[in-house]
Amino acid sequence: MKILIIGGNGGIGKAITTYVRDTFPKAKIFATYRSTLPEDKRVDITWLKANASLDADVKHLAKQISDLDMLINTAGFLHDAANKPEKSINEFTPEFFNQNLSSNTLPTLLLAKYFSNHLKAKHQTYFISLSARIGSIEDNQIGGWVSYRCSKAALNMAVKTISIEWQFKLPNCCVIAFHPGTTDTQLSRPFQKNVPPTKLFTSEYVSQQLFKIISKVQPSDTGKFYSFTGEELPW
Ligand SMILES: NC(=O)c1ccc[n+]([C@@H]2O[C@H](COP(=O)([O-])OP(=O)(O)OC[C@H]3O[C@@H](n4cnc5c(N)ncnc54)[C@H](OP(=O)(O)O)[C@@H]3O)[C@@H](O)[C@H]2O)c1
Repeated sequence: MKILIIGGNGGIGKAITTYVRDTFPKAKIFATYRSTLPEDKRVDITWLKANASLDADVKHLAKQISDLDMLINTAGFLHDAANKPEKSINEFTPEFFNQNLSSNTLPTLLLAKYFSNHLKAKHQTYFISLSARIGSIEDNQIGGWVSYRCSKAALNMAVKTISIEWQFKLPNCCVIAFHPGTTDTQLSRPFQKNVPPTKLFTSEYVSQQLFKIISKVQPSDTGKFYSFTGEELPW
């Protein structure tokens, strides 16, 4: 089995990388980082450098791997030192919007473009993107966080669109979007104040929940959006 994790140095990405290493000891595991290799990186994982928002980087990454059973994209962005998600449309800037699209939407599109041949096996394969419930248009009751929300809604549309195209080209591939729930990583840290402890999950728990879903899905489930609870979410 060959598995690629994009964003293996992120909070959830690192936990997924450790989970697959411990659960599938015979698997060949590749993980990517954008700029800095994790200090505590597992040596039994092949680390590759890639900015998943750059066409040339994803193309080069695909050339370094021959075939895959599973690709999990954990790249994402919510805030940085200069910008917090918008409370109101008045705070909107094109720069922050493009930053969100670049990290939350583009990687899945480029990964699908360059890895479709890698996932074309006769057995079941998986193309999984970490999305967020906040990207569900139907589920949107409270507004706010417009750039992140739009970029995850666009990601969801990308997942759905890729799944439809691949139903014919890669009939054994499960193309899935996954909502991890509020997970204790640097991404959610500034927004955890009002989250009850029972609703704040560890990256390790979320990884286990993802693999419970992976163990159950069939190619007929391609194009679905799952919560960490196993529940199917509306697009
Ligand atoms: N944590 C939550 O509560 C939560 C809730 C819902 C959804 N999610 C989603 O879950 C995913 C993982 O989030 P997380 O909590 O693990 O966040 P995180 O700890 O901030 O990790 C995000 C990772 O994405 C990487 N990344 C961003 N843009 C990239 C790019 N263009 N190319 C390659 N790598 C890129 C970052 O790399 P650098 O280190 O180089 O910046 C980092 O490794 C994200 O898609 C996020 O939107 C998280």
